[in-house]
Amino acid sequence: MRVLGIETSCDETGVAIYDEHQGIIANLLYSQIELHREFGGVVPELASRDHIRKTLPMIDEALLASGSKPEDIHAIAYTAGPGLVGALLVGASIAKSLALAWNIPSLGIHHMEGHLLAALLTDNPPDYPFVALLVSGGHTQLMACHEPENYDLLGESQDDAAGEAFDKVARMLGLPYPGGPAIADLATEGKAARFSFPRPMTSKPGLDFSFSGLKTFTLNTIASLKVLSQQDKADIAVAFQEAVVDTIRIKCERALAATGMNSLVIAGGVSANVALRESLNHLSARLHCQVFYPDFRLCTDNGAMIAFAGYHRLSKGHREDLAINVKPRWPMVEL
Ligand code: KG4
Ligand code: ZN
Repeated sequence: MRVLGIETSCDETGVAIYDEHQGIIANLLYSQIELHREFGGVVPELASRDHIRKTLPMIDEALLASGSKPEDIHAIAYTAGPGLVGALLVGASIAKSLALAWNIPSLGIHHMEGHLLAALLTDNPPDYPFVALLVSGGHTQLMACHEPENYDLLGESQDDAAGEAFDKVARMLGLPYPGGPAIADLATEGKAARFSFPRPMTSKPGLDFSFSGLKTFTLNTIASLKVLSQQDKADIAVAFQEAVVDTIRIKCERALAATGMNSLVIAGGVSANVALRESLNHLSARLHCQVFYPDFRLCTDNGAMIAFAGYHRLSKGHREDLAINVKPRWPMVEL
């Protein structure tokens, strides 16, 4: 069985093919980062138009690269939400049209479930149940994952997502978009002891997050310095990153304790952060639990996670009609 996956929820066009025996046999990614860079963030209309230009040629390329013909594809999975409505509609329309033309099923995938399942795309995947931390540009959520498709929300950000906070702080420091990798790079040159940033919502019990106060604290620190040297920027970057990482680590530890689970799965763009991985690796050694991450290239948006999620849903008998429906807002617990 082969499933074609299409990801167009934001600023990456991802097209991939998952084969049940061989795994991912094609995985193409086109990033719109350059297109949006001058605006410091994603411009939704530009994103939709670019997905229109890229998706079909990339599907041709994926078929060619994997030696597949349309008749070898058994289903088409696409990201149905959450995400930018116009961008989602491009992927959904193309998926549904091809499904009609090729007479095969189409499956709308929840983007965050795609991220979650990317961590299972390995030779040694975690067993259910586990705690999942989904950290991306749009979401920061702790989930209790009891079995496939059975997830409970434990806590989430009350305001900015962790990735969004990285992006906004990067902008304050004059760093390019996306901010996460830029801050992580600069932080390697920073002196961690110079500033002490708050760990929001950690002094009281609970599993929710809030990053907007930390963002304001960073802005105030920048304002207090007036002129920023390269070293100031690096010192702020490392202090900010440590605050985010530490906050996430504290909440993960609480979530493991609250659920009694002993596996932790981290997914989403921010799971590529090396300082976060180091901190969670220490946590897992201390608690004697296991921590799982997606392959680095599968942390940020990609088509492989959508193809793989589509394969899971298809094997469980999920099917949908040809109506084009996307869900820009879609809580994962509704799955
Ligand atoms: O999952 P993703 O590709 O898209 C969404 O679903 O939002 O995540 C993108 C987010 C951006 O905010 C980006 O700055 C952040 O992930 N990110 C990182 C790193 N790589 C990407 N944040 C921190 N450290 C990184 N190395
Ligand atoms: Zn994503």
